[in-house]
Amino acid sequence: MRHIFKYLFALALCWPVLFSCSPSSGRVTEDFNFEWRFQLGDSPDWSAPGFDDSSWRQLRLPHDWGIEGEFSPKHPAGTNGGALPGGIGWYRKHFRTPKAERVAVEFDGVYMNSTVWVNGVKVGERPYGYSSFNVDLTGKLNPVGEDNVIAVKVDHSKQPSGRWYTGSGIYRNVRLVCTDADRIAYSGVCVTTPEISDAEATVLIRTELDAATPMACSVFHRILDADGKTVAKGTDAEPLRIARPHRWDITDPYLYTVETELKAGGKVVDRVETRIGIRETEWDVDKGFFLNGRSVKLNGACQHHDLGCIGTAVHRRALQRQLEILQAAGFNAIRTSHNIPAPELLDLCDEMGLLVLDEAFDKWRGRKDGPGYGAFFDEWNTQDLTDWVKRDRNHPSVIIWSIGNEIGEQMARTPEERQDHEELSRHLADVVRANDPTRPVTCGCNGPDKDNCVYTSGALDVIGLNYRAYAYDSLRVWFPGKPILGTETVSAQNSRGIYYQPSTILRVPGWMPWSGTPEPTEEELKGLIPNQCSAYDNSRALWDCTTTHEGSWIPIRDRDWVAGGFIWTGFDYLGEPTAFRWPSRSSYFGIVDLAGFPKDPYYMYQSEWTDKTMLHLFPHWNWTEGEKVDVWAYYNNADEVELFLNGKSLGRTSKTRDQLHAIWPEVVFEPGKIEAVSYKDGQEVARAVRETTGPAVGLRLTADRNTIDADGYDLSFVTVEAVDAEGRALPQADARLTFRVEGAGELLGIDNGDAADTLCMKGAVKPLFSGKALAVIRSFRGEKGIASLKVSSELGDATIDIKTR
Ligand code: GAL
Repeated sequence: MRHIFKYLFALALCWPVLFSCSPSSGRVTEDFNFEWRFQLGDSPDWSAPGFDDSSWRQLRLPHDWGIEGEFSPKHPAGTNGGALPGGIGWYRKHFRTPKAERVAVEFDGVYMNSTVWVNGVKVGERPYGYSSFNVDLTGKLNPVGEDNVIAVKVDHSKQPSGRWYTGSGIYRNVRLVCTDADRIAYSGVCVTTPEISDAEATVLIRTELDAATPMACSVFHRILDADGKTVAKGTDAEPLRIARPHRWDITDPYLYTVETELKAGGKVVDRVETRIGIRETEWDVDKGFFLNGRSVKLNGACQHHDLGCIGTAVHRRALQRQLEILQAAGFNAIRTSHNIPAPELLDLCDEMGLLVLDEAFDKWRGRKDGPGYGAFFDEWNTQDLTDWVKRDRNHPSVIIWSIGNEIGEQMARTPEERQDHEELSRHLADVVRANDPTRPVTCGCNGPDKDNCVYTSGALDVIGLNYRAYAYDSLRVWFPGKPILGTETVSAQNSRGIYYQPSTILRVPGWMPWSGTPEPTEEELKGLIPNQCSAYDNSRALWDCTTTHEGSWIPIRDRDWVAGGFIWTGFDYLGEPTAFRWPSRSSYFGIVDLAGFPKDPYYMYQSEWTDKTMLHLFPHWNWTEGEKVDVWAYYNNADEVELFLNGKSLGRTSKTRDQLHAIWPEVVFEPGKIEAVSYKDGQEVARAVRETTGPAVGLRLTADRNTIDADGYDLSFVTVEAVDAEGRALPQADARLTFRVEGAGELLGIDNGDAADTLCMKGAVKPLFSGKALAVIRSFRGEKGIASLKVSSELGDATIDIKTR
């Protein structure tokens, strides 16, 4: 039996258009991120228009005040919350009244508990820090051309408000939208494609108008292909037809644009653009997920929303870099764990060809009296879900909705509780379906029990299971007819560049009595570095439901009917340093560290999920003479791999069905080089080398992009390494670095991927960790020139120039 969600759909973001015309003939959307003032603290006077804010700090958005703070275990968020500060902060901005009949401000996200005033009048509020919302200022502004003050209070004083680092402040983009009196509603365009064939796609568009807009207005749509050519046009009432549609696919993310015009009295009074993609999705009970008729295993990564040293302040380029790094290892899907993502993430997934499990909540009610969203859940969930689905439903990348993660309501102690939890599950799923009937609904459940209230409620179209691969088979029996998805898998823990020998011992770092595993012996603990894990895939979280990367992928690989899995996590994230205490303050779960440098298990996925020939050899080759070192290799497109130590063969070996790496155990270290050669049918396919390095002679700076846009948003990510006389990077270098940027750019953050480094990420000093560090440079708006990064250390100084154009 097939569950068919065979709707193209489309997309999303009512992509606001910047028109130069006056609002009387259309919509003008302005970047509202610049020239704000900010103050930590709280006073009832701060919303008043006459309040003198001239002493407040000037800044621009997106802004996360948490990442600017010092790491400390004393912050109420604790190390699980990233050991960074929260509190209450206020933002104020002066702006002149535009010549427009209606004015609104669109906030993509404010963490959390925000209240908005204009000229002293309260105009909006939003408890949930991940929701996008729209505040109407019409009628609240002074006469055209006069000054107004918008004030936003952000109350993140009750902590911890999340199980990870949430950030604090207006951390996503803000726009000012000016329109005519008649206008299209916020997130008001809904595009679906109920029928798709090679010959034709039927596109249905429904447009919601602002409540005050008269029925006499008419709506007209034009669909443009990627070259801007009109391929269909018509009204809301009629199905539009695209002949020979170009499908959106992960291999070819082709996008169309719907231009929607609102006309009143024969004149265009509003206009929005919506990008759509035409694609068919199916969830098959026996064969998993299908895209455009082709079986696609969801090779997914769970991602939290912080961007490392930038904190949660959203930057499109930082998100894009994360996605590029994951895509290069064969990831084709992202889970927005466990909250509504930034709209830019979905735009990028549309453009880059990634599939999205779009998730709304972590806990539901949680602790109702607790400091997080739980206290607001009953009152706000319908609004938050509605706004979320309406905002995201046009994105071709979004293939499934998730209404929650590991929620307490899965279990019930009494029949009354069961009834309540089942009703709540159905309510949430119904709200989603009322706004988008074309995609399935799931939930990341961690109770693989046939009595799980979320499962038994019937609310889910797809059974989501976190970890516990042993239960896939039982779920299939208990809930026949429902596709199954590994909403979360793995929870292995690795520190980049650190290798505990022997690699064959499974390690459970930071043992705790309740972990369900035996306490490590003195012998096992010997030689371990405090607050660090091993980078071999031999280290996993202390929850007994988790396993290694290989151990989590194999059961999914072997079951066609498991639609795929989302590893915990793609990138490390701030907070949840399981199972270490301070000074650890960020996670070890990522296959890529917080700075964006891949750890070795990253290459396991690349070897399994990509066709491009690769061979990854590790560890480094800087050990003490006589030491026994396990050497591993991940590879593809080959039958076997041979290892040479200083030219001498140590034999050929290969991976197996159940062991996805080649291993040469206990190689006795001697300085020089190890070299791996992979073969297919006896012919050499690829080679990889690790060499013992000499002493450091200086630093090397390498930018991911040497030219960036001078738009105040674009970023260059610069990697710092210590090198020997032959230009080889030292894998264990730990030199202390001082960073400075001069000219047409600013230093946005610094990091080294060490989860236990406590130096401020907005400061100027960081050591190398396992031989690497990162600096992020942001351009200034409208300032073309050179942003010069200077890094100083005891190894000498180095400079790199980034051009801003
Ligand atoms: C999961 C949870 C994630 C994260 C992970 C760490 O159970 O859904 O948010 O906490 O554990 O292992």
